[in-house]
Amino acid sequence: MAFGNTYEGVKQVTQEVRKVLDKPLIVKLTPNVTDIASIAKAVEEAGADGVSLINTLLAMKIDIDKRRPVLANNTGGLSGPAIKPVAVRMVYQVAQAVNIPILGMGGIINGDDAIEFMLAGAKAISIGAGNFIDPYTSVKTVIGIEDYMKKHNIDDVNSIVGTVQMN
Ligand SMILES: Cc1cc2nc3c(=O)[nH]c(=O)nc-3n(C[C@H](O)[C@H](O)[C@H](O)COP(=O)(O)O)c2cc1C
Repeated sequence: MAFGNTYEGVKQVTQEVRKVLDKPLIVKLTPNVTDIASIAKAVEEAGADGVSLINTLLAMKIDIDKRRPVLANNTGGLSGPAIKPVAVRMVYQVAQAVNIPILGMGGIINGDDAIEFMLAGAKAISIGAGNFIDPYTSVKTVIGIEDYMKKHNIDDVNSIVGTVQMN
């Protein structure tokens, strides 16, 4: 059931979960919406402790000889490096709209990618598809973040969160 693409749907589900959950509540957002910032606001207003984004982008591949979609479900979720620019843009927009922390993801495969998400406003990052490309992706990403910090004389990685300077 797709309840993640309307302000009211997101707010209602988050409110109901909040009522019965005494643990930290981080709500994962779909990117398949027009205005991600308003969806994130609904989550914050409903009492979530954090917001996580982005989930996969709805996509389709067609077998041109059979003239049929390749996936059994016809459509499926696109993840990995191809979606990173969309994810970074959405993390930035959500960071401007809410005060709760953001867990950023979508195409991260190295430290530089992770830093991009943090500059856009992510307090933490997550790696999905990258683990299928290389099971050491997470370890390499941590090392890459440390390399960036050394290069720019950064003591606390939290100090860079949301510090992108817009043109
Ligand atoms: C194989 C696979 C399974 C996934 N399953 C889920 C899931 O069950 N729930 C969910 O919220 N996101 C799921 N995702 C989405 C990821 O958590 C993540 O939001 C998305 O893939 C973007 O990050 P990435 O490019 O680092 O994979 C899945 C992704 C992949 C590749």
